[in-house]
Amino acid sequence: MRDIELPGAFYVGRVRNAAGTTTDEPLLIDARDLTTHAVCIGMTGSGKTGLCLGLMEEAAIDGVPVIAIDPKGDIANLALSFPGLTPAEFRPWIDEDEARRQGRTPEQHAEAVAKRWSDGLAAWGEDGARVRRFRDSAEVSIYTPGDSSGIPLSPLASLEPPSESERTDDALLSERAGTTAASILALLGDESDALAPTHILLVAILASAWRGGRALDLAGLITAIQKPPITRLGVMELESVFPAKERFAFAMRLNALLASPAYAGWLSGEPLDVARLLYGPGGKPRISIISIAHLDDRQRMAVVALLFDRIVGWMRAQPGTSSLRALVYMDEIAGYAPPVANPPSKPPLMTLLKQARAFGVGLVLATQNPADLDYKALGNVGTWFVGRLQTDRDRDKVLDGIQSGASGRGLDRAAAASALTALASRVFLLHDVHGPAPLVFETRWTLSYLAGPMTRPQIARLRAQPSAGGAPAPAPVAPATAAAGHTGRSRPQLPPEIPQCVLPGGTAGTVYRPSVLGSARIVYSAAGGSDVVQDVHLIAELGALGPDWSQAREIAVASIDSLLASAPAAGASWAELP
Ligand SMILES: Nc1ncnc2c1ncn2[C@@H]1O[C@H](COP(=O)(O)OP(=O)(O)O)[C@@H](O)[C@H]1O
Ligand SMILES: [Mg+2]
Repeated sequence: MRDIELPGAFYVGRVRNAAGTTTDEPLLIDARDLTTHAVCIGMTGSGKTGLCLGLMEEAAIDGVPVIAIDPKGDIANLALSFPGLTPAEFRPWIDEDEARRQGRTPEQHAEAVAKRWSDGLAAWGEDGARVRRFRDSAEVSIYTPGDSSGIPLSPLASLEPPSESERTDDALLSERAGTTAASILALLGDESDALAPTHILLVAILASAWRGGRALDLAGLITAIQKPPITRLGVMELESVFPAKERFAFAMRLNALLASPAYAGWLSGEPLDVARLLYGPGGKPRISIISIAHLDDRQRMAVVALLFDRIVGWMRAQPGTSSLRALVYMDEIAGYAPPVANPPSKPPLMTLLKQARAFGVGLVLATQNPADLDYKALGNVGTWFVGRLQTDRDRDKVLDGIQSGASGRGLDRAAAASALTALASRVFLLHDVHGPAPLVFETRWTLSYLAGPMTRPQIARLRAQPSAGGAPAPAPVAPATAAAGHTGRSRPQLPPEIPQCVLPGGTAGTVYRPSVLGSARIVYSAAGGSDVVQDVHLIAELGALGPDWSQAREIAVASIDSLLASAPAAGASWAELP
């Protein structure tokens, strides 16, 4: 029998024999095989999540970091690992309703669950010591974009420029800018394609800043929409394709969105930094779970697209390798790489499927239905885990998918079809381009306690108790506030027809307040013919009732033109508009 702790080999389950009985033979998958990616397909309850959690546990034990996108909340179960296997460890996480239904006290139920877990592990040749190894090998952190129940993550706080090599390659630069632009537009519910002026303008603004190695924040982006760094879109004048008035309306829409309560948490939190998601201080591997269950569909799309995009950027900065460097997992992939449509998440995901192998980044994608994934994506997948399916049609579609790709060579369709009939839960067919014939196996017991989808309060509880596996929260970076808020880093937006200026002489500590400038020229006519001319400039702060001229103060400036030309001080803050 093979040793389940063989380095570089992932213990996923035990092989079944022709009679359909699970044998003692462990199924070990070579970690390197996952660099050609895996898909896991099966109906609800077939055991996909259990299998993939097992893969991530193996990755961690092997020192391979993981980024996992969690649409439902059950990947967060990876934070529930209890080396003592005692009822007390399980007690805070058991389902108390379930206990009631079974007529048990919570304590009795915790005891039953702890026993179930230690028996389950024992039956698969695992024990508390292996749970401890997993726990010690990687820090499990749960990120909640735009929300502080887990570690807040702000995918849009700072739009960092890509690496030098991507910046100097126009195709790569526009690819990266394209995904960021499409993600921002997705948040606005704007599904217009890459040819829409909004999309082209955002790409142009991002590319212009990034080419110069500059990061942009959203406030800068909103300003640039009104004062773009370009005068032409393609061969046409910007002003005729996308006039200032429409650009202002677009900037306002973006600003209003970000100022809405639903986005309150979007501008503060850790920036989306892939290296930081993968490795802790000292290079210790992490399992970073990006929980998106609390987000609406648009927000999910934007987060997933931006995350895939940043992974592409990170990956390209790594040296090539043939070993597995990192695992990227997404559960319930439906809608993110669909066959026909092209949502923002699809281009970066396709890029990963095509290119990540050379950089040792393996993708594991789980879904209920093979029709959820673009065939072109499936062509790049080397490993297939197929569990129980709903219908014969689903089975045929999976087999079509396997045959359509590189991994389909030599597939005995009839044998595979019969193996796929009437699979029990947790039983999967493995078809692997690297392996010999397809085989059937039963997934091993997970080291982590599968408590089911975790709620926000539970995630918050995990975070408060690092002992339960949640990482202590790193200090969030200073919030990059949008135009809303009392004072912020961003200049409030006004219609372009209103001339705007700042008083000269500001410093980084200056707070600019909205005021109205009144200018008058007083001409004293002298009898002798030589008039005396005096320009007076008054500024009145703008309150809720308009400018308060009774409190206006006079300022001394050389001319209105010089005033209009003065630039705001870098690092200054801006008070809110009334
Ligand atoms: N590897 C496993 N170890 C222990 N229990 C498992 C395992 N896989 C699945 N289960 C049990 O079966 C249930 C359904 O499996 P799950 O992986 O959630 O299915 P799917 O993701 O396909 O809907 C889980 O809630 C869990 O109770
Ligand atoms: Mg699942």
